[in-house]
Amino acid sequence: MNLEKFPRYPLTFGPSPLHPLKRLSAYLGVEVWAKREDCNSGLAYGGNKVRKLEYLIPEALAQGCDTLVSIGGVQSNHTRQVAAVAAHLGLKAHLVQEHWVNWYDSVYDKVGNILLSRILGATVELNPAGFSIGIRQSWQEALEAVRARGGKPYAIPAGASDHPLGGLGFVRFAQEVAQQERELGIFFDHVMVCSVTGSTQAGMVVGFAAQERPRRVVGVDASAKPQETFDQILKIARFTAEAVELGREIGPQDVILETAYGGPEYGLPSPATLEAIRLCARLEGMITDVVYEGKSMHALIDMAQSGAIPKGSKVLYVHLGGAPALNGYAGLFA
Ligand SMILES: Cc1ncc(COP(=O)(O)O)c(C=O)c1O
Repeated sequence: MNLEKFPRYPLTFGPSPLHPLKRLSAYLGVEVWAKREDCNSGLAYGGNKVRKLEYLIPEALAQGCDTLVSIGGVQSNHTRQVAAVAAHLGLKAHLVQEHWVNWYDSVYDKVGNILLSRILGATVELNPAGFSIGIRQSWQEALEAVRARGGKPYAIPAGASDHPLGGLGFVRFAQEVAQQERELGIFFDHVMVCSVTGSTQAGMVVGFAAQERPRRVVGVDASAKPQETFDQILKIARFTAEAVELGREIGPQDVILETAYGGPEYGLPSPATLEAIRLCARLEGMITDVVYEGKSMHALIDMAQSGAIPKGSKVLYVHLGGAPALNGYAGLFA
């Protein structure tokens, strides 16, 4: 495998923290550790997109772009991270925030991620279009708007995923995990990760496939449109494998996506999601959110309790960020 041929612009602190979740492990009867992408960077709370952007930014800079243009929901963590990276580099950010979530809290478009993006100086454009992880008209129009005012845009798709370089950050993540395992004398046989736009899991699938010892990368769908997410993970994993010269093809058998935890809709939690968020917070002091990590936390708890993750397993729960969005859902916890 050859990841080193791709330039990387460091935006993270270094390897993200890895630590045991002792009380949750005792509760579940399986050994669980957390890898903390939610505190991987000093840029506006960090998260999984900062790690991905380390591989897109060199291209943006090489092309002489002055504006990062991206898209997400109103409470997108991704667009907030794009805004922070742009500020850090002295670039502009133009963000299209679509109506992806049927949630009508009166402060939903004022607090949390969108608040941070405004503070960071991004141009924030609200758009009524509904949820999709595909390429959007509104995003194309934003690119045109930047060109029309004489700027040079760099196009970053939703979640920095469906992009030739989108999977590379989490290929590197897999290498980082292996290094931390060597230092700690541990091996994680299960890796739990939340999936929506797909390149986080896709990069991991490729990165871990390059390692000698096999393990299960368990994706947990939070899109509630799991076929689209599955197809996108597979597509990104395939082109990423080719890009890094993995030496074998990735197929559908390489992608595990649990589909029982994403509902009722993208962006809305089930009662069990909320229970998982409370349990994790009260056992570990670790905050997960209603859109993403609460759903993968629910999956971890449920699969450990049902035996789908067998007793004796060593599980790596990958925390991808997302807590700022909780501010838009205060009513759920009142
Ligand atoms: C906090 C959080 N967790 C999980 C995900 C899912 O990652 P991906 O879109 O790469 O599948 C995202 C972004 O979509 C996110 O912001």
